[in-house]
Amino acid sequence: MRGKFVTFEGCEGVGKSRQIKDICNLLDVKNVKYRLVREPGGTSISEKIREIILDGKNRAMCDRCEALLYAASREQLVKEVIAPALESGELVLCDRYIDSSLAYQGYARGLGFDYVEKINRAAAEECMPDCTVFLKLDPEQAFLRKGGADKNDRLELSGMDFHKKVYEGYLILAEKYPERFAVIDASGTRGETHEKIVSALKERGII
Ligand code: TYD
Repeated sequence: MRGKFVTFEGCEGVGKSRQIKDICNLLDVKNVKYRLVREPGGTSISEKIREIILDGKNRAMCDRCEALLYAASREQLVKEVIAPALESGELVLCDRYIDSSLAYQGYARGLGFDYVEKINRAAAEECMPDCTVFLKLDPEQAFLRKGGADKNDRLELSGMDFHKKVYEGYLILAEKYPERFAVIDASGTRGETHEKIVSALKERGII
């Protein structure tokens, strides 16, 4: 049987990495086998693409180049890791996936959902998530919690208006795909958010 595919999404600083770690700890305790990957990255080729995309010196990068690099990195990750793991029945957890491209490049950069869907068609057709955990927290609150932007990260330096658009983009996607999206209020404590994620995954029969 094909394994389940769960992706985690949200604006910068929502505590996504910590929440993923907590879910992995729970799976370890329950002895559930899983594969954890992150985007952009997750394979040696994709990690090299990641360096180009996020390098603060690459200010001249145009929006379509950025979108295509994310799609290229994703394609490699799907072929090399995600598709084979799902085929062999594993549970795959991915830190960001196609909805990041839709929210960041499609909506916030203004390339459009259609364009982003088109360049991600292979990944979208082969490997759509069974569940997308969206950690919902306004970017202003999220940045406050994180203590400001990382000065070496090109995407984090894009400014508050950009991040507000990303957030809006996610809200549109959550409405467009209500079955796939588990919208989690991430304004509470780490433990509270964790419990909400666990309930959502249980409801969907994933854990
Ligand atoms: P990362 O340091 O992994 O951020 P985070 O911890 O917030 O996940 O950097 C990934 C950055 O790339 C982040 O700003 C979101 C952005 N991104 C896109 O714009 N499009 C995409 O398709 C993906 C996967 C990420």
